[in-house]
Amino acid sequence: MSHNLGRNSFGDPANAGNLMTIEEANTLLNEWVPNEKLRLHMKQVAAVMKAWAIEKENADEQTALKWELAGLLHDADWEKYPDDHCLIIIEELEKRNIDPDVIHCIASHGPSYFGVEPNNKMDKMIYAFDELSGFVHAAALIRPTRYEGLEVKSVLKRLKSPAFAAQVSREDINDAISRINTSLEEIIQFIIDHQKDVN
Ligand SMILES: [Fe+2]
Repeated sequence: MSHNLGRNSFGDPANAGNLMTIEEANTLLNEWVPNEKLRLHMKQVAAVMKAWAIEKENADEQTALKWELAGLLHDADWEKYPDDHCLIIIEELEKRNIDPDVIHCIASHGPSYFGVEPNNKMDKMIYAFDELSGFVHAAALIRPTRYEGLEVKSVLKRLKSPAFAAQVSREDINDAISRINTSLEEIIQFIIDHQKDVN
């Protein structure tokens, strides 16, 4: 399930600024990820990452695209190569000469699995959003009205119930939140607001 990448350097600094379009990333996803639910997860994380970059980090278009691409591709190899997740997508992006920031961000989305520490804000936010995005979605899916009327406090309550979405690591969530200057409550609200219309 997890793969310690055994390295901390990703991509080539000469490729800084070299991105791909969202269409190209979606083409890759459609080829690599037959599971629609998993694709939705990546689209949700991408939407939240992009929104955070623009609203909270004053990111320009190019920077926002970096955040979005990292979100969109972070689990691209998970379905077909679970034992080598996320090495395969990293190697693919290195082959395509993609900006090292995007690759490092993907490599650091689970420090306890991949052995890569989140360095910058983009790295830290994908780590914070990844598990919580899936958790918020699970909390929405069990409600008749889904995201409509979903409140932060009910998500918090479910987090305290170990049986609900038991595969989501509460430890990772707490660790990720401890690395940023934003509360768990605010992150959950941001996720609800920005992924509710993604499909
Ligand atoms: Fe993920």
